[in-house]
Amino acid sequence: MSNRMVSPSILAADFANLQSEVELLNESSADYIHIDIMDGVFVPNISFGFPVCKAIHQHATKPLDFHLMIQNSDAYLEDCKKSGAEIISVHFEACPHLHRTIGATKELGCKAGVVLNPHTSIEVLNEILPDLDLVLIMSVNPGFGGQKFIPSAIQKVSKLRALASKVNPNLIIEVDGGVNVNSALDLYAAGADMLVAGSFVFKSDNPKDTIQSLKDV
Ligand code: DX5
Ligand code: ZN
Repeated sequence: MSNRMVSPSILAADFANLQSEVELLNESSADYIHIDIMDGVFVPNISFGFPVCKAIHQHATKPLDFHLMIQNSDAYLEDCKKSGAEIISVHFEACPHLHRTIGATKELGCKAGVVLNPHTSIEVLNEILPDLDLVLIMSVNPGFGGQKFIPSAIQKVSKLRALASKVNPNLIIEVDGGVNVNSALDLYAAGADMLVAGSFVFKSDNPKDTIQSLKDV
């Protein structure tokens, strides 16, 4: 697994031209395509559902990285798999039976991730960390693209990397929310492997160059 991966969030793309936006990502140096699923219950916004995911999957040559911001994730893991998920990440705050959810994700053949909101400390993962493929640290409160980066995420990444080096050295650490070139360098230095970027990529003049710029910091 190479360091400095980028997973552009399709949430910031032009939905009226979804196919060409996906093709743009196919031609870029993106490692994954980040898929934000919101239910209007766990987070105060609704994004899109599985028919849209399937349309993305049909055109994507990059693997899909699902971020579920929903209640009852267990009920939708299979839909994620059918929509092309390689990674499925569920929120710690929304999963009362996390160990079961992680097991079910792995049984589907997907990489299993847990997401932590900005207020949730990494210590809550102590017991489950050895079982995880990935931890996603939120650097905004989930629900909307285009928010401001919360800098305390950087320290959280360092702490998690130190903890993981003892119990799960291959853990992928992903960071999501308000990421741009300024935060990218600090995040990679702190031990992040993969950065999500939505508006920074899609609102830029040249999204492909912007994706590469996140790796070149
Ligand atoms: C926020 C989402 C993020 C968002 C990132 O709830 O989980 O993935 O799309 O977008 P930016 O990079 O614009 O913060
Ligand atoms: Zn996300």
